[in-house]
Amino acid sequence: MSERLFIFDTTLRDGEQVPGCQLNTVEKIEVAKALELLGVDIIEAGFPVSSPGDFQSVVEISKAVSKPIICALTRSVEKDIDVAAEALKFAKNKRIHTGIGTSDVHIRYKFNSNREEIIERAVRAVKYAKKYVEDVEFYAEDAGRTDNEYLAKVVEAVIAAGATVVNIPDTTGYCLPEEYGAKIRYLVENVKNIHKAVISTHCHNDLGMATANTVSGIINGARQAEVTINGIGERAGNTSLEEVVMIIKSRKHLGIDTGINTRNIFKTSRLVSSLMNMPVQPNKAIVGRNAFAHSSGIHQDGVLKNRENYEIIDPVEVGIDESSIALTARSGRAALKHRLSILGYELNQEQLDEVYNKFLELADKKKDIKDDDLEVLVGISENRDKKRIKLEHLQVLCGASTIPVATVSLNIEGETVTRTSAGTGPVDAAFNAIKELVHHKFKLEEYLVQAITRGSDDLGKVHIQIENRGKYYYGFSGNTDIVTASVEALIDALNKIV
Ligand code: KIV
Ligand code: ZN
Repeated sequence: MSERLFIFDTTLRDGEQVPGCQLNTVEKIEVAKALELLGVDIIEAGFPVSSPGDFQSVVEISKAVSKPIICALTRSVEKDIDVAAEALKFAKNKRIHTGIGTSDVHIRYKFNSNREEIIERAVRAVKYAKKYVEDVEFYAEDAGRTDNEYLAKVVEAVIAAGATVVNIPDTTGYCLPEEYGAKIRYLVENVKNIHKAVISTHCHNDLGMATANTVSGIINGARQAEVTINGIGERAGNTSLEEVVMIIKSRKHLGIDTGINTRNIFKTSRLVSSLMNMPVQPNKAIVGRNAFAHSSGIHQDGVLKNRENYEIIDPVEVGIDESSIALTARSGRAALKHRLSILGYELNQEQLDEVYNKFLELADKKKDIKDDDLEVLVGISENRDKKRIKLEHLQVLCGASTIPVATVSLNIEGETVTRTSAGTGPVDAAFNAIKELVHHKFKLEEYLVQAITRGSDDLGKVHIQIENRGKYYYGFSGNTDIVTASVEALIDALNKIV
């Protein structure tokens, strides 16, 4: 009989801390429902005291999702715990996740405190949270750099106070897999009441070792893994759900199972990527565009003879439907709808019509429409017509020995305004014209153009990040004309500034 590993998804809390990737409540509910279908055991829905938006999202997710445990994060502060309990009031299954830094660096520089006092504060917080909920998880922030003997004392004390789960975060992504595994083993062997709680891993990817550390923690006794879809998260991100789940699934000798419906992995990955405007790198394990693409002749030949020659996972297991035929101008709405649903998009009739019209426009220019093209179409179809700033006209003049010049007409709240500007290239010229037309002062922080598939008739995807008064806004678009895509992406970002 296999042992169960609980999957604790923190895409909507730790994952959502990525600057510029914040979701609104409706989008968070969509992700939470997808996570429920994916079969995660716990959804960390937010940090309610941090903002009214986070509070509301936890409330709404608690109403919308019934199977997983809904968890809310707090510091070891009574007010945080009161607010978290209030936000969780509609959750069918609820958990409060409270904690405090335990490394000497945190104790000294963050709390100006000492080890004994930190244990007292940790115990007080757990007892306080227990007044509201039975299920209390305690995190020892920066456990990765906390001395094991002291960490064991903290863990023993919080379990005695009622913690049901003890989270051992490698907050700075510092540990080596062996070290992290040894830390978990140390707790298993030296904390006398450890059998009363589940040990959880929570690893960050600063040195590219989050997955390796998580798996090492599991091998050494952790039975909950804290992960995010696509490994998103602050800095280099968190441990990626899909990697841990597929490692556990493909290495049966570990004798561990998760409750994840792996066939939903791909569509959940695409949903999160598109809602957060965070492209998945093509070579990303499990969910990257090239994860199952064999390009060398020897590999292609080997896979055709027998897939096991070069594939350790059947792509179908993670929901990549290979039997799909590329869509063309002759494909109907039903084929488009089916393909979109495989990709994780459930559209109502009005949305489908809108995407279908864009699909036909593209199919006129491009023979085969691939999944990546469709994602762009869905991404850019979210009702551009209702936005405050709309692109009415764009004309560029560029080429060798020509000063690039762009004329842009925008409709800003019903009024049409036009400017012509020069620049170092057509995109720069168009952006200069827009800068003069809009009243926001913004700084371009990031500008990324990607061809989606191959061929000169391809759609170009543009991701943009701008900064305005210390806040970051993302914009996205796709078009066979990359100057138009760039301008649309910039307008998308500008429309997000309130
Ligand atoms: O990385 C970390 O230590 C955290 C805790 C708040 C759980 O995210
Ligand atoms: Zn974290």
